[in-house]
Amino acid sequence: MSNKIKKNSLIFVAGHNGLVGSSVIRRLKFHGYKNILTISRNRLDLRNQNKVNTFFSRNKIEAVINAAAIVGGIYANNKYKADFIYDNILIQSNIINSCFNHNIKQMIFLGSSCVYPRNCKQPIKEEYLLKGELEKTNEPYAVAKISGIKMCESFNYQYKTNYKCLMPCNTYGPNDNYDTLTSHFFPALIKKIHEAKIKKKKSIVLWGNGKAKREIMYVDDLADACIHFMNVNTKESLINVGSNYEKTILEYANFIIKKLGLKIKIRFDKSKPNGTPRKILNSKLAKNYGWKAKVSLNNGFEKVYSSFLKK
Ligand SMILES: NC(=O)c1ccc[n+]([C@@H]2O[C@H](COP(=O)([O-])OP(=O)(O)OC[C@H]3O[C@@H](n4cnc5c(N)ncnc54)[C@H](OP(=O)(O)O)[C@@H]3O)[C@@H](O)[C@H]2O)c1
Repeated sequence: MSNKIKKNSLIFVAGHNGLVGSSVIRRLKFHGYKNILTISRNRLDLRNQNKVNTFFSRNKIEAVINAAAIVGGIYANNKYKADFIYDNILIQSNIINSCFNHNIKQMIFLGSSCVYPRNCKQPIKEEYLLKGELEKTNEPYAVAKISGIKMCESFNYQYKTNYKCLMPCNTYGPNDNYDTLTSHFFPALIKKIHEAKIKKKKSIVLWGNGKAKREIMYVDDLADACIHFMNVNTKESLINVGSNYEKTILEYANFIIKKLGLKIKIRFDKSKPNGTPRKILNSKLAKNYGWKAKVSLNNGFEKVYSSFLKK
């Protein structure tokens, strides 16, 4: 069912400086939305419910895309477990509650494919949520995100809101985090292989055994999914948004090595974790609602690498 947000409606994008938030801003502008509201973290800490409520009271917001969260790869998830669960639960709960208090019907909440059980059947359907044990390396993050999904579902059920929880696969693009320890695997690979090029290294070392399979998506596709679902009412609260593009970590490394015109060896540090063995989403539901990813790995990589070089 259509529920179009007007081009001059006030849309609040939380987390606008991040990988996903900055893409949402780019894509909203591209699609002709004129009234986009943002606020920096030092002016509004989204963990503070009173301040979040006051901010919502002062602005006539009609839709919210929440791209604010504490996010990271295996190392960060493991080391900062408390921040991953506490901050994420506060940020998302405050935004959901303020949307409700201010009668905002359209809110997009972003989760991640790691909310699904570690060993669940692949491709992962939405109905597999809570049907098995989570991956230990990101359990607190996943539990926070699952509580966000259940909160949206509960508000939708009790108060007839239409909050949507989009579960994306791994996402990459401009404005990503390239910190060696806290980044996700794809930006970490880009940085490692680029540095090998600059330093004329003969080999690189990757975490784990390289056999884990991952689905990745260019961030503008995810931003377009947020905008698409902001404009449709759905029966379901939980919707997977994946690209259906899957390779092993080793294959991604070889892809980047080839793109940079290098001939280097890959060695593995098998003392480091692999994470979940395979994660690919079944995104048929999103497709049935009219969304699908468009950007190829080749095009996405060209864009992300040129933005990486400008950093
Ligand atoms: N990256 C991925 O591969 C991926 C995949 C699936 C899902 N997602 C989801 O997409 C969403 C955004 O992820 P991302 O990769 O764009 O993360 P990101 O680049 O780290 O951006 C997160 C944003 O949240 C803001 N933020 C964090 N804590 C805050 C607080 N207490 N108050 C106000 N703002 C706060 C940050 O502000 P500062 O800029 O001031 O630090 C930053 O702008 C997350 O919900 C994540 O779960 C991401």
